[in-house]
Amino acid sequence: MSTTDIQPGETAIARAWLALRALPQPTLADLFGADADRPATLTRRIGWPVEPGSTAQAGMLIDFSKTHLSDALLAAFETLTEAAGFGLACEALFDGGIINVTEGRAATHGALRGSGTPAQVEEAEALLTRMGMLVEAIHDGALDEVKHCIAIGIGGSALGPALAIDALTRDGAMVDVHVVSNIDGLALEQAFAACDPATTLIAIASKTFTTIETLTNANSALRWLADNGVEDPGGRVIALTASPENAVEWGVDETRVLPFTESVGGRYSLFSSIGFPVALAIGMEEFRAMLAGAKAVDDHFRETEGCANAPLLAAYADQYYTRLRGCQTRAVFAYDERLALLPSYLQQLEMESNGKSVTVTGAPVDGPTAAVTWGGVGTDAQHAVFQLLHQGTHLIPVDFLVSIGPGDQLDPAHHRILLMNCLAQGAALMAGKPSDDPARAYPGDRPSTTFLIDDCDAAALGALIAFHEHRTFANAVLMGINPFDQFGVELGKAIAKQIESGEGEFDASTRALLAAAGLG
Ligand code: F6P
Repeated sequence: MSTTDIQPGETAIARAWLALRALPQPTLADLFGADADRPATLTRRIGWPVEPGSTAQAGMLIDFSKTHLSDALLAAFETLTEAAGFGLACEALFDGGIINVTEGRAATHGALRGSGTPAQVEEAEALLTRMGMLVEAIHDGALDEVKHCIAIGIGGSALGPALAIDALTRDGAMVDVHVVSNIDGLALEQAFAACDPATTLIAIASKTFTTIETLTNANSALRWLADNGVEDPGGRVIALTASPENAVEWGVDETRVLPFTESVGGRYSLFSSIGFPVALAIGMEEFRAMLAGAKAVDDHFRETEGCANAPLLAAYADQYYTRLRGCQTRAVFAYDERLALLPSYLQQLEMESNGKSVTVTGAPVDGPTAAVTWGGVGTDAQHAVFQLLHQGTHLIPVDFLVSIGPGDQLDPAHHRILLMNCLAQGAALMAGKPSDDPARAYPGDRPSTTFLIDDCDAAALGALIAFHEHRTFANAVLMGINPFDQFGVELGKAIAKQIESGEGEFDASTRALLAAAGLG
């Protein structure tokens, strides 16, 4: 960046980045050698009541001490935070400011769990109450017997519900929900095979109610009901959308539309009516517990200054690795089967939000933006991809997530081995091990952050989701980008439409492929 490119307000930001880039980069061994209390200094805990009104707390501990964050880096990041206007950005987030500038919208997902202006919170609560009444009416048999639900949606209208249902129904569900996203008919057929049409509800989740995959799947699901003797398939449909008029035009009765607000982004919408299939599966009480966990993190994020703020601290580590160490990816390993879908949920949240090349002013960004988020489940991943983490040439910061409480009822040895392995991996990545044989040497100095949750329940899941929403937002503010739009997904959709209409002009490679696929 040349000085002539620097706007008055940006000077302090540019200076803060220069200061960050000039700092020495001690190893993890140096950092631990210099500060024996490092884990105490760099561990944060966020808590929430174990149940509404209880003084007993559950929570999660986040240990950042195995990252390269030093006192000097933290001080320099705090300077950047101030220069980037983080305080004002946070206020705008929770006060309904127009922070999604390219679309002229606020981002009011916080209000869904009570973190917003009184008017927004009241509106969100009214919509939630309405959703809750429908959920309870269905549980009470108001729509005859409902044993199954096929929840159709894609992206933000599917990933959150799929994660929450997979995480929270391991011991059984009030309604058996199948989330179907892909246009590949195999996905829908698989759901049909697991459901009885006479007792199946179809939930169509789409913020815009224009998404071709979702509407095509919804049409096929209605046909399946009709073909299998359901007299009024339309009566078995619930629409979850921020575009109620599109849902009604498509054919959903307006009494069966559960709306949410336009200012709730798709990938931030799990706690809106998009969460209806989750509430159907786990009940409203548990759904509200998920909201309470998210609210606890909102409160922490709003009220905690500087590097005591855990999502902000996570963003410091993210910025350090992507911008100062050139890491192109960040890996997330859930040592818990219940969180198996968390890495794919986070992929959309982080990559669709912060995978950008321009700032909020439209200027090119001055460094890399979102890392590629990837990951898997421990211990499985240890036997598949950890070789590269330990000895490969990439430096990959890793997040480990693990619950102190077990999810299974088997011999406690299972959970003990799971926990031990999770903690061992972080230790091994950091410590490394020299060897005279280069093939057997571990370089070490490889960073990780460990999330230790008391129990993997609804509140913890809500907290983890809100934590990552705020981490993503904090990263965006530090980079000066808008995390709430996603124009990058539009071009491919437009070209698919051109192919369908036969009107597009395509390159030679695409023409040949279309011909070979029988579409030319
Ligand atoms: O194409 C990307 C996207 O717009 C996501 O942002 C969104 O979550 C997904 O498609 C589904 O959109 P909708 O909820 O409007 O069907």
